[in-house]
Amino acid sequence: MSQYRVAVVGVGMVGTELVRVLRQRNFPCSKLQILARRARTETIDGNSYEVLPTTAEAFSDIDIALFAGTEGEKGASQLYGWEAVRRGAIVVDNGADFRLEPNVPLVVPEVNADALKSHQGFIANPNCSTIQMVVALAPLHRAAGIKRIVVSTFQAVSGTGSQAVEELKSQIADVPAGRKPKVEAYPHQIFNNVIPQIGGEHKDYPGYTSEEVKMIVETRKIIGDQDIQVSATCVRVPILNAHSESINVELNKKLSLAQVKEILASAPGVKVIDDLRSSKYPLAMIADGRDDVFVGRIRKDPSCENAFDLWCVADNIRKGAALNAVQIAEKMIEMGLIKK
Ligand SMILES: NC(=O)c1ccc[n+]([C@@H]2O[C@H](COP(=O)([O-])OP(=O)(O)OC[C@H]3O[C@@H](n4cnc5c(N)ncnc54)[C@H](OP(=O)(O)O)[C@@H]3O)[C@@H](O)[C@H]2O)c1
Repeated sequence: MSQYRVAVVGVGMVGTELVRVLRQRNFPCSKLQILARRARTETIDGNSYEVLPTTAEAFSDIDIALFAGTEGEKGASQLYGWEAVRRGAIVVDNGADFRLEPNVPLVVPEVNADALKSHQGFIANPNCSTIQMVVALAPLHRAAGIKRIVVSTFQAVSGTGSQAVEELKSQIADVPAGRKPKVEAYPHQIFNNVIPQIGGEHKDYPGYTSEEVKMIVETRKIIGDQDIQVSATCVRVPILNAHSESINVELNKKLSLAQVKEILASAPGVKVIDDLRSSKYPLAMIADGRDDVFVGRIRKDPSCENAFDLWCVADNIRKGAALNAVQIAEKMIEMGLIKK
């Protein structure tokens, strides 16, 4: 089997998990180079890694570059993403900077691996809350077509990055002790709170946040159907890791509840836990550290003819980011799209 020279750019929540996932899945690496803003040594799962500063030259001897730097004009992808492609690397980017570009496939391997065939060296990993939703819903779309989705999310602080995780932990200690908590990651204290805002207001969707609009537009691009109607409410909750979602999906054609359950039970990447009477359903605590998208509370919506409700939980750092990025690279190798 060919071995690839791999770079992981950024070593925060997602970058650290990328290194872990590459190791856990025995990804065929002949070299694994971590790049970030500043040089240092990082220890991940007991192994020590040299971290080098990110430069254009650093990509000259890299086959696959997995980007997990921050977004925006000072972020790694905008500064170095396409330069890495020019120097011969295949880039898989975790950020939102290029997801909607027509020449950038936006891929969840269980859903639209075919989109990789037209890649131009740069592939985008979708938003975490969108990834888990489409893994659960794409099989229903294939069976009966999706007309409309109404989703509310309950998103963990790990989705904001390592600084937000530390802030929740410090608030858990400071607030009960009567100390003034540090409040920087969010507009409000997150401990003992629920914040119905993830991102700022979107300029094209008045009243909707940027995270909510990602769920609308990315879902359509990944599933490949611009007619799917989506409304989202994205909420930050004081959970360390794993996002939960309440999803109402209306289908174009009639399916029975038994058919929906059967489709979900055999869907790739999905694990169904659905026994309300025994209080068994997906929980953030179960999904934390796991690869599957967990689905439960599957029920027929009595208020709408072809609609169903379900509860969907996944590890936002693994399937919502690092694992999906590594699966994209694995799929490209399998499809013969990465040359050695
Ligand atoms: N967390 C999630 O659930 C999630 C899910 C999907 C996608 N994402 C996306 O994944 C990316 C990383 O998120 P995160 O949560 O891991 O962030 P994070 O914990 O804040 O870590 C950011 C990392 O990026 C590095 N970095 C920032 N700017 C850079 C630059 N110009 N050049 C090189 N490295 C740079 C930082 O380097 P230093 O350590 O040297 O400062 C740091 O290691 C973001 O684009 C985010 O939107 C996150």
